Amino acid sequence: MALSESTSPVAVGARYEEVHRRSIADPEGFWREAASAVSWEQPPGERILDSSRPPFYRWFPDATLNTCFNALDRHVEAGRGDQAALIYDSPVTATKRTYTYQELRDEVARLAGVLAGLGVTAGDRVVIYMPMVPEAVMSMLACARLGAVHSVVFGGFAPHELAVRVDHARPKVVISASCGIEGSRVVEYKPLLDLALAEAAHPPSACLILQRPQAVAAMTEGRDLDWVQAMAAASPVPCTTVAATDPLYILYTSGTTGVPKGVVRDNGGHAVALTWSIPNVYGVKAGEVFWAASDVGWVVGHSYIVYAPLLAGATTVLYEGKPVGTPDPGAFWRVASEHKVSVLFTAPTAIRAIKKEDPSGEHLRRYDLSRLRYLFLAGERLDPDTYHWASDLLNIPVVDHWWQTESGWPIVSNCMGIEALPIKAGSPTKAVPGYDVRILDEDGHDSPAGREGAVAIRLPMPPGTLPTLYLDDDRYVRSYLSRYPGFYLTGDGGHLDEDGYLFIMGRIDDVINVAGHRLSTGSMEEVLSTHPDVAECAVIGVADQLKGQVPVGFVVLKAGVDRKAQDVEAELVAMVRDRIGPVAAFKRALVVARLPKTRSGKILRATMRQIADGQEPNVPSTIDDPAILDEIAQALEV
Ligand code: COA
Ligand code: AMP
Repeated sequence: MALSESTSPVAVGARYEEVHRRSIADPEGFWREAASAVSWEQPPGERILDSSRPPFYRWFPDATLNTCFNALDRHVEAGRGDQAALIYDSPVTATKRTYTYQELRDEVARLAGVLAGLGVTAGDRVVIYMPMVPEAVMSMLACARLGAVHSVVFGGFAPHELAVRVDHARPKVVISASCGIEGSRVVEYKPLLDLALAEAAHPPSACLILQRPQAVAAMTEGRDLDWVQAMAAASPVPCTTVAATDPLYILYTSGTTGVPKGVVRDNGGHAVALTWSIPNVYGVKAGEVFWAASDVGWVVGHSYIVYAPLLAGATTVLYEGKPVGTPDPGAFWRVASEHKVSVLFTAPTAIRAIKKEDPSGEHLRRYDLSRLRYLFLAGERLDPDTYHWASDLLNIPVVDHWWQTESGWPIVSNCMGIEALPIKAGSPTKAVPGYDVRILDEDGHDSPAGREGAVAIRLPMPPGTLPTLYLDDDRYVRSYLSRYPGFYLTGDGGHLDEDGYLFIMGRIDDVINVAGHRLSTGSMEEVLSTHPDVAECAVIGVADQLKGQVPVGFVVLKAGVDRKAQDVEAELVAMVRDRIGPVAAFKRALVVARLPKTRSGKILRATMRQIADGQEPNVPSTIDDPAILDEIAQALEV
């Protein structure tokens, strides 16, 4: 449904403009007010923003609180103890279970007792490598309860990627499970964890393992503890008060190199921003059901499966299944209908998967979706076809919104709780209050409407956004803040139209988006280049109807290597899967005679991508040998 009417009694957009203007003109006043929705141990007081050390900013520098208390205990104390906090719906194990706020608080308090017994105290790191089970959510909240810093690693990453993150975070404890279930396939996590910890230079002293009946893991004597036994022996512990500026979690995300960036989230700014976002961006009230169909391993899972709905006193849904095949393309509509979901949030790729199997929406029509008010989509570009399909079938606003791991919550969105603006297909609408979003040209000047440039955010960014990268202030400045002093560089390119709507055109770096998952082509190139027969290589993201983009690798073999191309290609595919993980969806490696380059030796990845996508390639005048482009096209069979 295209939104043409405004809920505002005044001119369309006026209310939104007023709230946004106030947030930019007086950020401290704006966020001071928002902070009153959070329970503080020591309230913020006079200083709302510490800007004494630009480009580093800290929100609520004098305040203290506990995030778990805000997500659970205070709702129990306020009389919401019997309200559902978490609904676990797992078609892959035929399980459904609801935890009330009281039950979830009790489980989390006991689990925090287990961790405390293992020596975890405020500031210690805990790595969580878990499938989509309630225990994953409990683990995150138990860390928050202790003031410990969790780092969740997505289950689709291979042992090496897990080892890299363990070595960077140096956790005291790792929490994992015997297995995850991918559709009908049981993926044993524990052997992957064991491999990772054998590789890691700084393994933890203890691992807490949830044994699932689908696969029982072998335990390492003296290191591994069984979840059920440990819980039975532990006592609940209260919340530990931390500074608002203390870290709540680290979430590693892909950068342009193989070394992931450890995005840090603080406690206070995060609690304020996320609490504010539920009613204002998503239009959801306490007591309503909010479902983010994502994974706790991604930022969407952190913010909108775990923290924001609970901070705001809503009910969250944890879904262990896929959009299709568990058992059919009606799965999302079944869950939304059965649990009376008010707002569903997922990635466009999930909707494309459903559309492919149920183009006329027959499965959808089997369910009563009268409670569903909005479908929010993010994680990758929402193509107009998918937008129109979902919007026509659901007959509710389909809201594209744009953000990233670093921001932690939406940067650009139609804020349904403030004022529903008219939707333009292909645009995530306008800057969310708190964000001053600009399109900058090469020289750092604002680009006029319609002209593409780098999407940047004027500093300081609002609460909830990353204060730095874990243990790497320098990389934080280098990656995001040095290109345009006074601005945060998002890594995306795009333009604003004459009405101020943002259009994202894609990444301007080597990051690609595969099925809503952010991946680095640089890290794949690093893997390919370790193959003994490979002289040089390039990985590009190629358009894909289902996943948005998929990686394709090109390799040039060393002189004298006389092997069948297919054999090398199969080895390369296996290497990326082993080293980075199945989530990379790296299924295509092509042996070519040469790579197209400029005369100075720079590989023309953008030109290769245009050829792969069937576009007219933009061939720079500095190209060394244009004939190579035909060879690339032949290899791709385009
Ligand atoms: N643990 C272990 N393996 C995992 C995994 C996990 N948590 N998540 C994914 N994988 C594996 C998959 O099984 C698959 O393996 P395969 O190559 O052996 O088939 C591979 O990683 C790629 O996974 P995925 O990209 O998810 O593809 P898919 O074909 O299994 O499913 C979609 C395609 C579109 C249905 C699926 O990607 C989807 O639901 N995407 C939603 C995206 C999303 O939630 N994004 C978060 C941001 S909002
Ligand atoms: P991640 O950090 O994994 O959430 O990925 C963030 C990146 O995904 C952004 O920088 C964008 O490139 C892309 N992205 C997220 N949401 C959108 C959207 N609504 N439209 C276009 N791209 C998006």
